[in-house]
Amino acid sequence: MAEFVGAIDQGTTSTRFMVFDRAGTEIGRHQIEHRQLLPGAGLVEHDALEIWENTRKCIAVALGETGLAPGDLAAVGITNQRESVVVWDRATGLPCHNVIVWQDTRTDRIVAELDRDGRGDVIRDRTGLPPATYFSAAKVQWLLDKDPDLRVRAERGEVLFGTMDSWLLWNLTGRHLTDVTNASRTMLMNLATLQWDDELLGFFDIPRAMLPEIRSSSEVYGHADAVLPGVPIAAAIGDQQAALFGQTCFAPGEAKCTYGTGNFVLLNTGTTPVRSTHGLLTTVGYRFGDQPPVFALEGSIAATGSAVQWLRDQLGIIGSAAESETLAARVDDSEGVCFVPAFSGLFAPYWRSDARGAIVGLSRYHTAAHITRAALEAICYQTRDVAEAMARDAGTSPDCLKVDGGVTANALCMQLQADILGVPVSRPAVAETTALGAAYAAGLAVGLWRSTSELRANWREDRRWQPAWSPDRRDEGYARWKAAVDRSLNWVSV
Ligand code: G3P
Repeated sequence: MAEFVGAIDQGTTSTRFMVFDRAGTEIGRHQIEHRQLLPGAGLVEHDALEIWENTRKCIAVALGETGLAPGDLAAVGITNQRESVVVWDRATGLPCHNVIVWQDTRTDRIVAELDRDGRGDVIRDRTGLPPATYFSAAKVQWLLDKDPDLRVRAERGEVLFGTMDSWLLWNLTGRHLTDVTNASRTMLMNLATLQWDDELLGFFDIPRAMLPEIRSSSEVYGHADAVLPGVPIAAAIGDQQAALFGQTCFAPGEAKCTYGTGNFVLLNTGTTPVRSTHGLLTTVGYRFGDQPPVFALEGSIAATGSAVQWLRDQLGIIGSAAESETLAARVDDSEGVCFVPAFSGLFAPYWRSDARGAIVGLSRYHTAAHITRAALEAICYQTRDVAEAMARDAGTSPDCLKVDGGVTANALCMQLQADILGVPVSRPAVAETTALGAAYAAGLAVGLWRSTSELRANWREDRRWQPAWSPDRRDEGYARWKAAVDRSLNWVSV
C-alpha cells in the first residue's frame, strides 16, 4: 500500500514538492525559485508557465532523489500563494497575461472607488475582507477592463480565472476547480453560502462563466495522470491555512504565525466566523469534505522575508538572508532606528495601500547593522500589531505563538519576537508546516490518516524562545514603532 504523501507548495518566491511519511517526517524535497517580474513601481508579476514547468520538475527530481515511484504516493495535496490571479485560455491552456501577484498595487484606484458608494461595506459584510488591492477580484477586473476582447471571451467561458491552486489543478487534472480557502480570498465568495455571490461579481463586472467550481479543501478532485499516473490530487488549501493545519491548530483559540515573503497570523475561531472590528480578516481556515467549515481570524502582513530580500538585493548590505542574523547581532539594539517596510502599503491592521516604506530615527552614528536589526524588529512589531488586534476581536490572545517558515531559522529574530510580544515563541521540529498541512489534508481525504488526533500526535517542539525584555523596554519599543508607522501612513508623495 502507498505509504507516502506528496505536497506541492507553490509559494510567492518558489515552488517545491515535498514527500512525507505517515509520521509527518520529511522524506525528500526539491525546490525551484521563479522570477519576480517587477515591470514598474508597485507591480509584481509571475510567469504562470514557468511556475507550472517548475512544479513538474520539482515532482520529478524529488521522486528521483528519494527513489520513489508515483505508486508509492497515496495522494498529493496542493498549497499555494493566495489571491494571485491567473487568466488562461480554456482551449490552449495558455495564460492570457502574467500572474498578477497578491503584492501588486496596480488596482488601487479600482479599490478606492469601492468605499465611495457603499460597495465596500457590502464586501466587508459578505466576504469578511476589507476592500484592498491584496485580494483577487480587482486584479481580474483590471485585466478584463484593459482588454474588451478578453471580457467577451470570459463571458463565453473561453478564458478562465483561477488562483494558483486552480491553475495547478487545471494542469494536473484538466478540471477547473478551487477550494473554499482560496475562494475566500477573492472578495467574490459569500462567507455565509461558501459560493460565488452574484452581487459581488457585479461590483467587479466579472462573468461567472470564467470562475472555477468551489470545493472543500480535502477531497479527491481528480488524478494527476499527466505527471503522476494514478495518483489522486486530494487537497487544495491556501498556504497560510495549510500552515494552520500543519501546526495542528485544530481547536478554537490555537494560533500560528508563518514567516514567508509576508507574515501571516491565523487564529482558529471554530465553526462560526468571527467578524473583525480591528482590521483583521475573517477567512475560511479549512473544510474537510462535507463537514462544516472551520473559520479563522487572520492578520496578514505584506513584507517580512521580502524586507530581508530588499536589504540583500536592493541595498546590498547583506549577501544572504542568513547574514541578516550575524549583521544584526553586531549591535545590541537598533538605537532608535525604526524601519517600516510598507512596500505594498500596509496590510493588517491598517489596510492602507497608500502607506509607503520608511526608515526613521537615523543619525550619522548608525550603520548597516542597526538598519538590519530594525528590519528584523519590524517583522516582530508587525506581528505585535496583529496580536493586539486579535486580542480585541477575539477577546483572547494565544499564550504561546507557534511559528514556522523561513525566518524562524533566524534565532535572533525569534528571540526579538518573544521579547516584543511578551509571550514564548515555539518552533516545531518540522518547520515546513505549509507543505505538511497540505500533505495532511490530502492524506486525510484518502484515509492514510483517520483523524486529526493522529496528526496532533506527530507535532513536536524543536525550540522555544522566552521573552527577556522588561515590560518598560517592551512598551517603549512599541511606542516608537507606532510613531514610525504613523510617518509611513502619513507620507504624501509629491
Ligand atoms: O496571501 C499571500 C500568501 O499566501 C503568500 O504566502 O508564503 O508565499 O509569502 P508566501
